[in-house]
Amino acid sequence: MCGIIGYTGQRERVHDVLLTGLAGLEYRGYDSAGIAVADESLTVHKRAGEVATLEAALPTEGVDGLAGIGHTRWSTHGPPTDANAHPHTDCDAQVAVVHNGIIENYAALRRDLEAEGHTFTSETDTEVIPHLIEAARERGAPPEAAFRDAIQQLEGSYAVAAVFPDSETVYAARHESPLVLGLGDDGHYLASDVPAFIDFTDRVVYLEDGQLAQITPSALVITDEQGAVVTPTVDRIAWDPEDAGKAGYDHYMLKEIHEQPAAIRQCLRGRVSELEGTVTIDELADLDCEGPVQFVACGTSYHAALYGARLLRERGIPAQCFLASEYAVDSIPVSAETLVVGVTQSGETADTMGALRQANRVGATTLALTNVVGSSAARECDHVMYIRAGPEIGVAATKTFASQQVALAMLASVLAGERSTAFVERVRALPDQIQQVLDESPARAVAETYADADAYFFIGRGYNAPVALEGALKLKEISYTHAEGFAAGELKHGPLALVTERTPVFALVTSGSSAAKTLGNVKEVEARGAPVVAVTDIPNEVGQAVDDVLEVPSAGPRFTPILANIQLQLVAYWIAHRLGRSIDKPRNLAKSVTVD
Ligand code: M6R
Repeated sequence: MCGIIGYTGQRERVHDVLLTGLAGLEYRGYDSAGIAVADESLTVHKRAGEVATLEAALPTEGVDGLAGIGHTRWSTHGPPTDANAHPHTDCDAQVAVVHNGIIENYAALRRDLEAEGHTFTSETDTEVIPHLIEAARERGAPPEAAFRDAIQQLEGSYAVAAVFPDSETVYAARHESPLVLGLGDDGHYLASDVPAFIDFTDRVVYLEDGQLAQITPSALVITDEQGAVVTPTVDRIAWDPEDAGKAGYDHYMLKEIHEQPAAIRQCLRGRVSELEGTVTIDELADLDCEGPVQFVACGTSYHAALYGARLLRERGIPAQCFLASEYAVDSIPVSAETLVVGVTQSGETADTMGALRQANRVGATTLALTNVVGSSAARECDHVMYIRAGPEIGVAATKTFASQQVALAMLASVLAGERSTAFVERVRALPDQIQQVLDESPARAVAETYADADAYFFIGRGYNAPVALEGALKLKEISYTHAEGFAAGELKHGPLALVTERTPVFALVTSGSSAAKTLGNVKEVEARGAPVVAVTDIPNEVGQAVDDVLEVPSAGPRFTPILANIQLQLVAYWIAHRLGRSIDKPRNLAKSVTVD
């Protein structure tokens, strides 16, 4: 999972565009970075470490040229070293290549190429590509044919870009890895994702699997696998460049936590009618679902899917939830009647895509619930519903989780054919209620109190159970401290053995039938000496029994847990802040996990 940027246009802008693009792509991988610039010859600079390390190592002059490509890496084959950083070149530095994805047949290709006399300088799967291009060039193929020949030999997932000396053309191709082209007034761009070039243009073309693109300063040519020219569809991105910056917050994560009221409003816009009590999702107008429903997802999106499955079951629609990496159609009954919903912020997660592709193969109806327009999930599923959260740069998912929850609530209402003004009123009130939590939360002080604990536990029942899992995931991924979430009733079946006076317990106790039982679990942990922080909309009933309270407004049993989660996001953020962690880019993690 890596980030690619390419540019061809004004020679004096190449350096700036590549480095701006790499900074915008660091969320996709940040263990090494590099650029290659084509002029009379190829110039390659690459370094292990973050983009800033590369930038510091670049010469102050001589990094402009006819065209350039750049790359941020998250290692899959070979550790993060200068040698393994992209771009990679052939033996004579006559082509430079960047790649995102995995070349599954690289070992066999490398063996054959080495037998033919090619010398490899890295441990990466990527390096086979420039050598394949070199081999085709030696057989007399011009650059485009050599690039196509190399691509046709690859098995696996890839987005690839290449430049040649003395040429202003950037060549690119994709298969199961994202690649988007940008049309500017001063040249053309390509990247793994729009934030890489959003500062320069908002007009984009999404490359499809199997297509090959050639961009020059004045032209953009797309061809299909057979070489026939394809007329591109140009989309306009609604985000402005400000959306991709931190807007004054210390971290993207904090900014994105505060963007949740706006994100939810955006998610609801034009989809709910207070007068009629109905939800209308235009994208799903032709979705015909009799059930059952199966959700597939990973990480935070899996927690949202657990929440969504419960919403459906409560309305009488059979619904199950699977970790995408555990989904296997030969062991799970799937038929043409089954609706398989992939919940995925990025729309590119390999495990989720693998599950959706299985479902597609056996003829199920598939639906992508995603944030990224034109993502693989959006394009490969029969139906797509966008959560409209806008770009999320922090590795920790925050606003996209809340948007997924709200989108799933709307989906449940649509699938159930529901008409409920109470539902619409509640969902429309959420943005203001989230704002209230953000404005009044004492989470920073609570975080200060408990930042030095040995471990943390999160408990909740019903709709609060997935929120407990999410609260623990958020805290562990950005604070590097042990944290576990449990359905509150499970505590006494094992985890209670871990509870001590040095393990604070965050208890989600929101109004509804299970509050009394969760309070019983609070008593159990208190008896073992654990401090308890209650996240609650009934502080009068709960406050006496616990050490600290994080209050939320009441939004009914289904929606109060969405508000409770905002408090847990803030606690995680402030504990990680206090511990001085790398909040937006936690160690060992990446935003978009495109390997399985
Ligand atoms: O893009 P996706 O929603 O498919 O990503 C799935 C997980 O990798 C993701 O939710 C991950 O758990 C979060 N970034 C953690 O905060």
